[in-house]
Amino acid sequence: MPIKLVTTVAGLHAESARLLTSRQGVSQGLVPTMGALHEGHAALARTAVEQNDVVVASIFVNPLQFGDAVDLDRYPRTLDDDLALLEAEGVDLAFAPSVEEVYPDGEPLVRVTSGRLGEKWEGASRPGHFDGALTVVAKLLHYGVPAAGLAGAGSHGSGLPAYRAYFGQKDAQQLALVRRMVADLNFPVEIVGVATVRSAEGLALSSRNRFLSDEERDAALVLSRALRLLEERAAAREPLDLESAAALVESQPLVALDYFDVVDPATLEPLAENCRETPFRGEGLALIAAKVGPVRLIDNARLVS
Ligand code: PAF
Repeated sequence: MPIKLVTTVAGLHAESARLLTSRQGVSQGLVPTMGALHEGHAALARTAVEQNDVVVASIFVNPLQFGDAVDLDRYPRTLDDDLALLEAEGVDLAFAPSVEEVYPDGEPLVRVTSGRLGEKWEGASRPGHFDGALTVVAKLLHYGVPAAGLAGAGSHGSGLPAYRAYFGQKDAQQLALVRRMVADLNFPVEIVGVATVRSAEGLALSSRNRFLSDEERDAALVLSRALRLLEERAAAREPLDLESAAALVESQPLVALDYFDVVDPATLEPLAENCRETPFRGEGLALIAAKVGPVRLIDNARLVS
């Protein structure tokens, strides 16, 4: 079925209600994006299509989560390609609102604050980023509520349609924060994390990778190599020896390492020192961020033993 583009919240509600009704749908999935879609987003869309009767993808470059206007202007806008990718994955509706539609009164006075969890790691070098991201995610999750446009919302099966929203595990801190917001503020939605998609060489896909030169792209592979080293050590129940993995990254002259640490997957607090120096047991999340040429890259890996 061809994808339908809607640009207003009213249009989104009307179209999603029409599709849920005509399909007697019992579930709706939302895939929030900022466009410039790649295979990583395709995996989010594919998972949502597998799990839901109706799927909406939003495309909105959210000014609130950009620190500076240059970065916001530079963010790639590729609507036609995005629509083609979403249609190929079977997404029903693309919701691409204007800034005025999302923020009709200008910047919102009341926002979601990400607290301690939003101030560290990515938050330390991008102040306000997660408050802006969570604020728009809260709005998008409200827009995507499947019952919003249904006249007789209770008439679908045993009650309201199930509602799920899809986020990439590559943005581990964003995913942890969205899960926390949904739990702390009782949003009626299930958050589904989808595995990171990588290039054949191992580079985590990102809309920003297009700004890397060939040489920088090769250099950036050291990030996933270092993560793989930790995964292997964790699986073998060896000490993680984070220092030697960090030294590998730092040996690459085109890569400026920002942070590389092993944290609790839910709280993102660093694991106790002894987990690093004694054989690894249990679960952890390795987080890495580095500047490669003009681009800041992040990646992570789940460590299990
Ligand atoms: O991950 C993103 O693309 C954005 O942060 C999101 C979740 C769409 C909010 O603008």
